[in-house]
Amino acid sequence: MYVKNTVFTLLLSLVTSYAAPEDWTVSAPFQMSSDSNAGVSTSAYINVTRLVDGIWDWERREVGLYGSGYVGPAKGILIHITSSSNSNDHTGCQQPYRSSASDGKIPNPGIPWIALIKRGGCSFETKVENAYKELASGVIVYNDRDSSNLDRMKLSSDNGRNISAVFTFKWKGEEMARYLENNTDVYVEVTVGRQEPIRNAALNRTSVLFVSITFIVLMIISLAWLVFYYIQRLRNIHAKDKLSRRLCNAAKKALSKIPTKTIKSEDKEVKDGECCAVCIEPYKAVEVLRILPCT
Ligand SMILES: *[C@@H]1O[C@H](CO)[C@@H](O)[C@H](O)[C@H]1NC(C)=O
Ligand SMILES: *[C@@H]1O[C@H](CO)[C@@H](O)[C@H](O)[C@H]1NC(C)=O
Ligand SMILES: *[C@@H]1O[C@H](CO)[C@@H](O)[C@H](O)[C@H]1NC(C)=O
Repeated sequence: MYVKNTVFTLLLSLVTSYAAPEDWTVSAPFQMSSDSNAGVSTSAYINVTRLVDGIWDWERREVGLYGSGYVGPAKGILIHITSSSNSNDHTGCQQPYRSSASDGKIPNPGIPWIALIKRGGCSFETKVENAYKELASGVIVYNDRDSSNLDRMKLSSDNGRNISAVFTFKWKGEEMARYLENNTDVYVEVTVGRQEPIRNAALNRTSVLFVSITFIVLMIISLAWLVFYYIQRLRNIHAKDKLSRRLCNAAKKALSKIPTKTIKSEDKEVKDGECCAVCIEPYKAVEVLRILPCT
């Protein structure tokens, strides 16, 4: 199992090299967490309410996807998280949290608020754990790259942490962050959307991996067999060559041992008009004859 997993991880790192390993999503195969929502992906509706020209304006869209941890509704004032050391860092990897608003203040305990955090810098787990410690009611993580699909964040679910965390598109996160400019209050409500089985996606990736590994192994085996076969064939040809040369030499040697004689016109073979037993021609004078053992 150890070797197997190492090989898989290696291949996987090639396959998923576009994503940093620390923010792998749940659909990545061979993740070993105890995921109570395993096999189900839950979408999230995000209802964003704000004051525009003195009128409350809201927009509710299904643009979120719950992570693999706690799934439930959440609502509160939206806070775009900023690092206390760098006002351009919205990754929420370090505590204490600050708001991107000019006063930089996080709401007092008891006032529900939602943390708006950018992807990257650390794992989803770290971001959500930090937001939980900062007493947020919910977390919205927005993508740091343009993508047409939502990733399911890999979060632990066996620690009693009852904070909802949803993932949303880059454009949605940036839109909400823009609303918060000029210290405008933005109120967000996250509600549970549709549930869909995700086994197929994970299974497909697993089977693709298996098929590729099998293919590679078969390729190596047939290549090795081919090389072996050609080496064997070459050796056979060489051996045959040597044998036929040896036989040829032996035949020449045997021939040279048979006595010869030059025929003369007064010899009995010419006078009797005998024929050569091999070429069926009469003997002529001055020809060289080989005398076979059977005479
Ligand atoms: C969205 O939130 C606003 C403010 O809480 C609320 O008035 C509105 O009904 C909500 N929309 C939906 C579809 O729930
Ligand atoms: C989470 O658990 C705490 C303490 O048990 C409770 O006060 C709070 O209401 C819970 N929050 C949610 C969203 O269930
Ligand atoms: C913020 O204020 C500036 C200047 O007053 C204005 O140009 C901009 O449109 C405002 N942004 C939003 C999101 O209202």
